[in-house]
Amino acid sequence: MALSTSSVITLKINGEKHTLPVDHRTTLLDALRERLDLTGTKKGCDQGQCGACTVLLDGRRGVACLQLAVAAEGREITTVEGLADGERLHPVQQAFLDLDGFQCGYCTPGQICSAIGAIEEHAAGWPSAVTDDVRPEAGPPPLSADEIRERMSGNLCRCGAYNSIVQAVARAAGAASGTDPVPGASVHGVTDSKETVA
Ligand code: FES
Ligand code: FES
Repeated sequence: MALSTSSVITLKINGEKHTLPVDHRTTLLDALRERLDLTGTKKGCDQGQCGACTVLLDGRRGVACLQLAVAAEGREITTVEGLADGERLHPVQQAFLDLDGFQCGYCTPGQICSAIGAIEEHAAGWPSAVTDDVRPEAGPPPLSADEIRERMSGNLCRCGAYNSIVQAVARAAGAASGTDPVPGASVHGVTDSKETVA
């Protein structure tokens, strides 16, 4: 008996259900872009290296090029198209816009989805590779520029807009936590690697 190589699946994307037949080898990225016309999610390397295709899966960030569409069935998928509330941008989107967190913009949807995930991971107390004190009782580390850079290190920007990206993430994280977003730092002033920016 020949095994089937395709299935009809239902993906829940930005709160809407989409039912479509897919070859089992179809990545979530190709399903989004080529089948559902959700081209906000970008294809850079197509091999998990650049972060351009980052989306949120059940609120956690993941690269859509390494995820099979069939494996995403049943998960809440959020792409950059689903972040704004009507005309009101998501705070991370607004911070990128306000602080010029992009140049060509190609990496930006992935950066923004990744930043949302990173801010939530930090708020939940997850340590990063540069966190000094990883004991659970230590709580979330200060969100220094180093912390932001490390937590966003899976998202590459060929335009090198990193300074502004760090500032935008810091501002959005500060807004989310109600703290001063960038104490003592100008928009392009994140030079002290241990500086607390949120
Ligand atoms: S396109 Fe998915 S990580 Fe580069
Ligand atoms: S803004 Fe051009 S690649 Fe990042």
